[in-house]
Amino acid sequence: MQKEEQIKQYQARIKKVIIGEDEIRSAIQKAGRYIDDIYDGKPIVLVSILKGAFVFMADICRAVSVPCEIAFMCAKSYYEGTSSSGVVRITMDLDRDITDCHVIIIEDIIDTGRTLNDIVKVLKSRNPASLRVVTLLDKPSRRVVDFKADMSLFTIPDLFVIGYGLDCGERYRNLPYIAEYAE
Ligand code: IMP
Ligand code: MG
Repeated sequence: MQKEEQIKQYQARIKKVIIGEDEIRSAIQKAGRYIDDIYDGKPIVLVSILKGAFVFMADICRAVSVPCEIAFMCAKSYYEGTSSSGVVRITMDLDRDITDCHVIIIEDIIDTGRTLNDIVKVLKSRNPASLRVVTLLDKPSRRVVDFKADMSLFTIPDLFVIGYGLDCGERYRNLPYIAEYAE
C-alpha cells in the first residue's frame, strides 16, 4: 500500500473531536484545585493505571500543589462470561508500599467499571490512609458493576474514543485531544 493511502486510512478513523485540548486543559486545572482543597497540604501518592492514563497522569501531577509522589501499575481483569471474577492480575505492580499513604488512582476511562472495582479492592487491602479515584472520562451508561469515581472530568455517551492516552489497537494514544473512533 502507498504511504499516502496508509496515512489517509489512519486519519479517516479519527471521526470527530469530542473534547478539545483547551477543554481538557481547563478541566485538569479544576481537578488540580479539587485535589489541593481535599488534601490541604497533606502529601499524596498518585497511582496511574497504564497504559491509558499516562498522558492524564503527566498533566494532572503538574496541576497539583500538595507534595506529590507518582507511581504506576499495570493490571488486567479476568472475566468469566459477562461477570467479573473479581480477580485482577497485576502485570506490573507498584514499586512502593502505600500503607498509611493518601492514594489517588488516576484512570483514563471507566467503562464497565470492572477494572477499577478490582484495583480498588487490591489497593484497599494494602491499608492506605485514604483512597480516591479520579478519572478523565466516564461512560456511566456502560456500567456492569456499581462503581463511582470520586471525580470524573467528563461524562461521555457510549462511544469508543481515542486520543490523549486512549488507544485503539495501541494506536492514537498520542493525539492531543479526545476523538470518536470510526469503526
Ligand atoms: P472497564 O473495566 O470496562 O471499566 O475498562 C476500562 C478500560 O477499558 C479502560 O481503562 C480502557 O483501557 C478501556 N476502554 C474502555 N472504553 C474505552 C474507549 O472508549 N476507548 C479506549 N479504551 C477504552
Ligand atoms: Mg486503561
